[in-house]
Amino acid sequence: MHNSQNGANAGSGSGPNKYLMPGIGGYADPCVGCHTSSVANETKKNLNGSIVPIVLNTVAPSAPVATNMLAGGNFYWVSKDSASWDKYGHNVYGIVGTDRNLAEAPGTLDACAAGECHTTLASATNTKNKPGCQGCHFRVMHHVIDSSSVNSTTGYRFLWGHTYSGGNYTAWVEGVEDSDWEATKSSSDHNFYKGTSAAYSAGANGLANTHSISAFCSGCHGLFHNDNGGPTSPWTRHPVDIALPTSGEYNSYDPTTSYSTEAPVSWQNPATPVRSEARVMCLSCHRPHGSDQPDMLRWDYNTMIAGGGSNTTGCFTCHTGKDGTP
Ligand code: HEC
Ligand code: HEC
Ligand code: HEC
Ligand code: HEC
Ligand code: HEC
Repeated sequence: MHNSQNGANAGSGSGPNKYLMPGIGGYADPCVGCHTSSVANETKKNLNGSIVPIVLNTVAPSAPVATNMLAGGNFYWVSKDSASWDKYGHNVYGIVGTDRNLAEAPGTLDACAAGECHTTLASATNTKNKPGCQGCHFRVMHHVIDSSSVNSTTGYRFLWGHTYSGGNYTAWVEGVEDSDWEATKSSSDHNFYKGTSAAYSAGANGLANTHSISAFCSGCHGLFHNDNGGPTSPWTRHPVDIALPTSGEYNSYDPTTSYSTEAPVSWQNPATPVRSEARVMCLSCHRPHGSDQPDMLRWDYNTMIAGGGSNTTGCFTCHTGKDGTP
């Protein structure tokens, strides 16, 4: 509270600290310290009665890793701190230094300077930046009562862009939050993400206008949304915020009845999901924190053998006809 006890230390020692929060567990960033566990496969920890969702396990999650981590994935792999492990997660301040392979967010449309969020999430705070986690969780509001099931006041998982207009931040992600962050998960127990049927350009109020989770990622990786050759096949990059057709091979994946937490979809209205309104999103293929696969993929890309005949996972969750099964 005052960084003082028995008259000592008010202006000395390691404090006082911003937000009155000391580093926890030896981590420079309190976000990381509190959201970390050293217990194998622990996805939530009880901190004197508060249940803390875990994003970094210091012991490797056991295979199959998806059962031993939350929806966002885990920073465990990227925390191993080498050029080859840098590919397994966002390099975030307090966990690991700047990515040794990527000098900026791939596909960025901004000309941000070195050290800023669209270039790296590994910088400590400076005049332009929020540090690490808050580059994405831009407006953290712990313990607020979400007044709407789609989180239109708090943002889905506190995810906001920095679009500011009329004295307010206007760009947040909507969604319906699973109460245990998918610590337990099934086709009927999961998050619901927001997608959109509206055309938008990344970086031009795309998130403020749509509140789509893919528009959020596109804030830093804009080219991957804007430049995909669309709006119809042939695509030149994999489309997102594209409807999962109700015909052809796609008709065999009905996420209203057999939702896959391995290859999830977003919805035009996450509070009332309708099959024809299911859409592809960045998180259909990626975990935002990190995973056991390069490029933070949700599954092993090398096992996606078209015509292989027996694989119904990963890409084939949607492309049900491409594994060779008629
Ligand atoms: C690149 C953007 C990004 C960064 C950086 C990031 N997060 Fe997240 N985080 C997300 C997204 C997106 C979700 C929602 C995942 C979902 O629901 O599938 C999320 C979800 C969460 C959750 C809910 C649990 C879960 O796995 O869904 C917690 C807690 C969290 N983040 C904390 C953190 C902390 C602490 C850090 C820093 C160590 C961090 N995040 C860094 C994007 C990010
Ligand atoms: C003192 C421990 C503590 C610290 C420090 C802390 N958190 Fe949390 N965090 C929690 C707890 C407990 C929850 C679950 C309750 C809640 O959602 O408010 C949580 C939940 C979250 C969630 C998920 C919210 C949701 O919708 O379920 C995110 C995202 C998150 N924290 C990010 C952060 C970020 C970013 C920081 C640093 C600015 C941070 N946390 C610092 C304890 C902490
Ligand atoms: C605030 C900016 C920001 C946002 C928002 C953001 N990213 Fe990134 N992303 C970066 C930066 C910077 C890098 C390059 C450095 C790194 O990997 O940390 C990166 C790298 C990546 C990589 C390559 C990983 C690697 O290290 O090779 C993937 C995949 C990725 N992001 C996916 C996503 C997805 C999916 C989302 C939405 C949930 C997202 N990003 C949101 C800034 C961002
Ligand atoms: C259909 C699955 C799929 C979807 C949807 C998808 N990605 Fe990817 N992404 C991949 C695969 C596979 C790779 C690795 C191969 C490659 O780089 O082309 C990758 C690589 C990346 C990389 C690393 C590029 C690099 O230069 O290292 C980033 C960043 C990224 N994706 C961000 C995104 C964002 C942001 C979205 C949403 C706008 C998105 N992805 C949607 C499958 C997908
Ligand atoms: C969540 C569902 C989903 C997942 C997962 C998915 N896709 Fe797609 N994919 C689609 C949809 C929907 C389209 C666009 C169909 C259309 O044109 O209407 C598409 C388009 C494509 C195209 C372009 C085809 C064309 O006509 O231009 C290719 C290639 C492709 N996907 C490959 C992949 C690969 C490889 C993976 C795994 C890394 C993957 N997809 C994962 C749903 C998905």
